[in-house]
Amino acid sequence: MAPVLNLPLNVGQIDDVQELKKARKTKIPNRFVRDVAERPMLATTPSPLSSSIPVIDLKKLMRGNKEEFHLEILKLSASCEEWGFFQVINHEIDLDLMEKIEKMAMEFFMLPVEEKQKYPMAPGTVQGYGQAFVFSEDQKLDWCNMFALGLVPHSIRNPKLWPNNPPMFSETVETYSREIRKLCEDLLRFIALSLRLNANVFEDMFGESVQAIRMNYYPACPRPDLVLGLSPHSDGSALTVLQQGKGNTVGLHILKNNTWVPVQPVENALVINIGDTIEVLTNGRYKSSEHRAVTHKEKDRLSIVTFYAPSYEVEIGPMQELVDENNPVKYRRYNHGEYSRHYVTNKLQGKKTLDFAKIPSKKSM
Ligand code: OGA
Ligand code: NI
Repeated sequence: MAPVLNLPLNVGQIDDVQELKKARKTKIPNRFVRDVAERPMLATTPSPLSSSIPVIDLKKLMRGNKEEFHLEILKLSASCEEWGFFQVINHEIDLDLMEKIEKMAMEFFMLPVEEKQKYPMAPGTVQGYGQAFVFSEDQKLDWCNMFALGLVPHSIRNPKLWPNNPPMFSETVETYSREIRKLCEDLLRFIALSLRLNANVFEDMFGESVQAIRMNYYPACPRPDLVLGLSPHSDGSALTVLQQGKGNTVGLHILKNNTWVPVQPVENALVINIGDTIEVLTNGRYKSSEHRAVTHKEKDRLSIVTFYAPSYEVEIGPMQELVDENNPVKYRRYNHGEYSRHYVTNKLQGKKTLDFAKIPSKKSM
């Protein structure tokens, strides 16, 4: 969440999707209706691959015996290479805390729209309540309400956007974020080990890591076949931690081998994904996979997402340990703050944002 554009943007009218749902209109406003090629055709058809999102047991990594540890590290490495996604169980985040943050998020989204709009996400910015990544009048909109806050470092916070209603909202966000930060630090250590690197390599490189939280609320949609909850994208973070609401329906899809694979929620698990930073640092060995969210005809869905990224001053580029004659450099070096700015000032468009750093391969030149 680096500083963003100061340009006056004409983004046209952005309808609040929860209000659209309340109005019970069956016709979806045109701005939400996707072009045919973008529609989530198979949204309700379970894919044969759906059960295969890897599950990593953090307990085996933290306290397992040598053999358990070794096997789990291999599994982690395969997950990051093949999927860029995994679900983590036994993550030691207090289940009551997870329940509490979910409750706070739900209470917030259930507030009257006028109350929520006291914390507006200004066009072209990414904090507050509204829709992020909207830059023009003709851009299609996502069937989603977002509420996002920058957390660390303190300088990215905008105190005016922190709600005092629900009453325990801010305290809960603080506690939750501290716990999730520890999880990110642990996971990055294991990810480093899975690459046969020094456990602290990322921590040492990242400085004071940037952390932000975004709550996504996807109301039920009368025509889930026409809209997207969240446009296809990869995350601009190093690591993303996603908590799905308890009893949520399937909503998150990952693009794997050109097929959208739905992520089946595992109770109390957290969904982790590799962001663009780790893809670049590992020279593409670990993937920042493209993903999207779809909506459901009857059920609302909530996700609480943490983005963890290097400090803006840090320079990023493929690590030399991951480059050799068989794996030539695929990305240029760049300043992470610059990448963040690039990311938040462009609409979500699959993996296009990472073109910023891609070195064209010899074959395509
Ligand atoms: C995100 C994201 C997916 C979801 O917020 O970056 O990918 O299921 N969310 O909400
Ligand atoms: Ni994402």
